Amino acid sequence: MAFYERDVDVMISADAVQAKVRELAAQITKDYAGKDVTLIGVMKGSVFFLVDLAKAVDLPVTIELMGVSSYHGGTETTGEVRITHDVSKPLHGRHLILVEDIVDTGLTMQFLLENLGARHPASIKVAALLEKPARAKVKIPIDYKGFVIEDKFVVGYGLDYGEKYRNLPFIGVMNAG
Ligand code: IMP
Repeated sequence: MAFYERDVDVMISADAVQAKVRELAAQITKDYAGKDVTLIGVMKGSVFFLVDLAKAVDLPVTIELMGVSSYHGGTETTGEVRITHDVSKPLHGRHLILVEDIVDTGLTMQFLLENLGARHPASIKVAALLEKPARAKVKIPIDYKGFVIEDKFVVGYGLDYGEKYRNLPFIGVMNAG
């Protein structure tokens, strides 16, 4: 029995995740043809998505990471967002895609879009693997959206529950038993 099987059920298979990432990457490749693009991943949850997306995009890509603390290991978001790690290069004049694992309440993305927008990039778009619209507190335009999911707490492919399960290659849902 695999280590997760007692606690986690598969919601979106690893193959389905990979196929979707390739689809989003193909769209990005088309939309940004002839341009350089900076992918900004939000730590730690988006790093798996960021890496796979970056590998599948056929463009000159630069990578940045941001750390925010909006979430403290339980199943609820506090709404308070703080930058714990900032990008390493100026973003002025660059084409940015903010890469996020999941848009839940939308508060993290709202904060980041405002914060990054103030640095005068050439453009800024959002890629999110998952969206949980049932819990949205603000409307975030997601330009590259993977899957819309129901209001369940999910783990895997970067998403954690108390720092656990990030390394699952699929999106899973915590089960009752
Ligand atoms: P927000 O509520 O849209 O600001 O989401 C903030 C962060 O909460 C996300 O980037 C995730 O790291 C985390 N989060 C939200 N929903 C889930 C979930 O179902 N599983 C794991 N983490 C989640």
